[in-house]
Amino acid sequence: MTELKRIVILTGAGVSAESGIDTFRSAGGLWEQHKVEDVATPEGFARDPDLVLGFYDMRREALTQVEANDAHRALARLEAEYSGERLLVTQNVDDLHERGGSTQVLHMHGELKSALCTSCEMRSAWDAPMVDRPPCPICRASTLRPDVVWFGEMPYQMERIYAALATCDLFVSIGTSGAVYPAAGFVQEARAAGAQTLELNLEPSEGSHHFAQSRHGLASELVPEWVGEILGG
Ligand code: OAD
Repeated sequence: MTELKRIVILTGAGVSAESGIDTFRSAGGLWEQHKVEDVATPEGFARDPDLVLGFYDMRREALTQVEANDAHRALARLEAEYSGERLLVTQNVDDLHERGGSTQVLHMHGELKSALCTSCEMRSAWDAPMVDRPPCPICRASTLRPDVVWFGEMPYQMERIYAALATCDLFVSIGTSGAVYPAAGFVQEARAAGAQTLELNLEPSEGSHHFAQSRHGLASELVPEWVGEILGG
């Protein structure tokens, strides 16, 4: 791969799997343990807010038990050492990219460690349970929800992502099943713009056939190797 000036990277649950965070669609994964419509939709939240707040409180608390892995650290190395432009987009709501050393991360599905107030619509850094209805740090109303994008809601910063895809020369997808749009369609956007496309995943994803190149294995091995290639040549 030569003369790469602009890289867009998309990560999914697979990049955090080796840190001990459950993926969504694996056997025994989060969507086998919980119904998507109960815990990841606005309707589910309206029906049973305690269940939903408790689910995200549990996932936020679980972050205290895990650490970044070599895949997160390699992507931080890329940020620090790559001389071209790179945009790291993650579907993950954990903070492991940041803990691995990345400082510029676009969380298109939101973040567990952020609260969204449904009254004043402001976002606040958040590290505590929500089930006991704490007040919003800004307007004091007890109307916080997880700052996580649910099914039926618009992911964050889509214009910025599509603009980067339209001008990138390499799109790399890491640890994502390619089952959820709009992220699953990014590879086609990048291809339409003439970019190279590479998938790094444990197994062929649902959208594997859209990629010019696929490598299969553990993110903690594939990602440092790939970053080494980019920085080395
Ligand atoms: P999935 O659980 O759908 O897919 C995870 C992918 O990572 C699978 O293809 C696995 O094979 C792969 N994988 C697992 N372990 C890996 C490892 N050690 N190294 C490399 N790959 C590995 O998770 P996502 O694709 O991230 O959205 O899911 C996308 C969205 O669906 C999530 O952001 C979430 C979910 O519903 C919302 O909640 C809005």
